[in-house]
Amino acid sequence: MAFELQACLFDLDGVIVDTAKYHFTAWQRLAEELGVSFDHSDNDQLKGVSRVDSLEYILRKGNLELDNDTKVRLMDRKNDWYLAQVAGMTPDELFPGVVAFMDELRAKGKGLALGSSSRNAPLILDRCGIADRFDAVVDGNSITFSKPDPEVFLKGASELNSVPSKTVVFEDALSGVDAALNGGFRVVGVGPEGALPKADFTLQGFDGFTVDHLVDRLS
Ligand code: BG6
Ligand code: MG
Repeated sequence: MAFELQACLFDLDGVIVDTAKYHFTAWQRLAEELGVSFDHSDNDQLKGVSRVDSLEYILRKGNLELDNDTKVRLMDRKNDWYLAQVAGMTPDELFPGVVAFMDELRAKGKGLALGSSSRNAPLILDRCGIADRFDAVVDGNSITFSKPDPEVFLKGASELNSVPSKTVVFEDALSGVDAALNGGFRVVGVGPEGALPKADFTLQGFDGFTVDHLVDRLS
């Protein structure tokens, strides 16, 4: 039977734009200052993970214990470095084909929402000129629990009045795929083949990808 698609929920970092590289350089700089090594495999663990949980990961890795004020100061420093890179972003940094795919969803009457852990999401959407393309935006400012908790996606589906089993989440992060599955959603991994084995299928990019392709792959 054909999959009945009601709506799509998009993660932001690593799905719509390649901000993961900016998070990486900022976290790496902070980790180095703390004397903790930080490479791309560490960064993969932090994709989809909130700012505070990301800092806790680095502190755990370095066996460091810090008081709360220091943690807040470090997160602010990392965010300043991150935002300095985001300030130079343009719509050219949108992944190829993703906006065309969103436009096709809209033309076919499907709901569209953002489901991101980032508190910087509104700024990034604005810089990339796509803030008005979503029916709902759920981001790090409106959630209590970080992925893999499904809160961000359940709120998105609720705002779109869509049923999770008929709603597709697009995610590049292990924690995000788990969040989608924990909420009862169908999930498309965005990334290299084999990187997100729990997803229904993995897409290397949106270029040339259509709503019919999506429905076919999920039917
Ligand atoms: C997620 C990123 O989308 O947002 C994580 O994948 C990031 O790497 C998290 O830590 C929180 O982002 P921000 O912009 O609020 O620091
Ligand atoms: Mg992501």
